[in-house]
Amino acid sequence: MARILITSAIPYINGIKHLGNLVGSQLPADLYARFCRAQGHEVMFICATDEHGTPAELAAAKAGKPVEDYCAEMHQVQKDLAAGFRLSFDHFGRSSSQRNHKLTQHFAGKLAENGLIEEVSEKQVFSIDDNRFLPDRYITGTCPNCGYTAARGDQCENCTKQLDPTDLIDARSSISGSKNLEVRETKHLYLKQRALRDRLEAWIDSKTDWPILTTSIAKKWLNDGDGLQDRGITRDLHWGVPVKKGDADWPGMEGKVFYVWFDAPIEYIACTAEWADAHAKPESAWERWWRTDKGASDVRYVQFMGKDNVPFHTLSFPATIMGSGEPWKLVDYIKSFNYLNYDGGQFSTSQGRGVFMDQALSILPADYWRWWLLSHAPESSDSEFTWENFQVSVNKDLADVLGNLVSRVTKFATSKFGATIPPGGEFGPMEAALIADLGSRISAYADLMHAMEVRKAAAELRAIWVIGNEYLQASAPWTVVKTDPNRAEAIVRLALNLIRVYAILSRPFIPTAAEAMMSALNSDDWTWPDDISVAMRKLPEGHAFSVPENLFRKITDEERLDWQTRFSGVRT
Ligand code: 2FM
Ligand code: ZN
Repeated sequence: MARILITSAIPYINGIKHLGNLVGSQLPADLYARFCRAQGHEVMFICATDEHGTPAELAAAKAGKPVEDYCAEMHQVQKDLAAGFRLSFDHFGRSSSQRNHKLTQHFAGKLAENGLIEEVSEKQVFSIDDNRFLPDRYITGTCPNCGYTAARGDQCENCTKQLDPTDLIDARSSISGSKNLEVRETKHLYLKQRALRDRLEAWIDSKTDWPILTTSIAKKWLNDGDGLQDRGITRDLHWGVPVKKGDADWPGMEGKVFYVWFDAPIEYIACTAEWADAHAKPESAWERWWRTDKGASDVRYVQFMGKDNVPFHTLSFPATIMGSGEPWKLVDYIKSFNYLNYDGGQFSTSQGRGVFMDQALSILPADYWRWWLLSHAPESSDSEFTWENFQVSVNKDLADVLGNLVSRVTKFATSKFGATIPPGGEFGPMEAALIADLGSRISAYADLMHAMEVRKAAAELRAIWVIGNEYLQASAPWTVVKTDPNRAEAIVRLALNLIRVYAILSRPFIPTAAEAMMSALNSDDWTWPDDISVAMRKLPEGHAFSVPENLFRKITDEERLDWQTRFSGVRT
């Protein structure tokens, strides 16, 4: 049994996430966490809301609420939706927690002690009418690169160029729209990432098993232009972690907060401490996951994220950890994802385009979405959600292949032999062939899951469902029962056992249906079927079972057209 620490990129607090966000980190992380648990490993699966920075402040202002209240409400909304999607976090924390305040200030203090922080006086845009500096998204203007007129101070959404607020042409305040701006001097802290460049490069080079998507982005940032840049880690904002050096004040930094991207990844650690607090556990309970001097050297740490997050996790956060000079756990494997597009365009939070988590659950249960999203995860390239494809996947894979098998077998068995596993007959050559085939496919499936090859694992799981259907087709118990009831009993006994095995294998993808299957089989034995021959005989003769409710219903053409229209516009 291994110990596996799994983190999903923590979603911004400003609004409900769309399905593209979900499949880029939280959902595949959940798939992996569930698989690792099913294999008997000890898992710590962590996620949280990312609550600081300008997106939170602006969203709160738009909602007309104090930012603290807005974040508390939206945290609960996101937490409930995560539960709705059956995301099995051990803890869903908040980057605004006291734990994160303390830990962020602690890291900053250590970095300063180690000579890795520089105080820089720089010029920033100040709004005279708003009486405040306008960092990042607080300023809007025309992109100097592409001419887009609604570019934000940190990035142009149109051409994706990273910007500095002072780059914008015809700039205005995002709060008041005021153009009464001037450039003023302000002091900020910079993390001297350049000093850590060689260590970072050697560390990334040592990760030869990482996906190309992850290492290529990391190397691009290491080597682009002038190479890795020192990074401003403070902002002139009210909402955030106040700048302190450990517990001590930081002279000259009064009233400033750390930059959201400095404190957000530290929340992975703080969140594990929040988990310990929530369960009244001692410090050692979370430290054994994170401190290599306190037991974490045998932990395997895996992160999940969308490709836009890769630079922060391959360079900035490791720079914080390495620069602290303390024995914190560094990530072992980074699984990153491309983007999911929506019906011929992009999903977009700011434009309200696509299907959002609450909307998805309002029309179909989580398993339907989980299956489609995971079996179409944007791994090797961007992928696209279309309603046609969604309908076909659900109707074929879930309703026809899996759901139909479960319903046919349990109904037929009940009608012919009653609601207990029938005793007659012996397994013959057809059963032996199926069991052998299952054995090799299950080990291929486990290898793919272990390697986090999400789409391929889904395809293998589907193939495992298909061979069960083929077996039933070929063995035809509904015909055989008329001439050789004993033989039909053996087939049914195998098929009922197969359903229990399917429940175990399918649970990481479709937990609700898997649990319904297991409960219909009146079992709670989720042991991974390493020995398939034993697993296929697990439910003995006379063991009671029931017919489950229909597991999956088909999506009709009318529904598809209705949803296509309903979700074609912009969410307001
Ligand atoms: O891109 C995002 O949604 C960020 N909120 C991810 C932060 S991940 C980490 F740093 F914690
Ligand atoms: Zn642009």
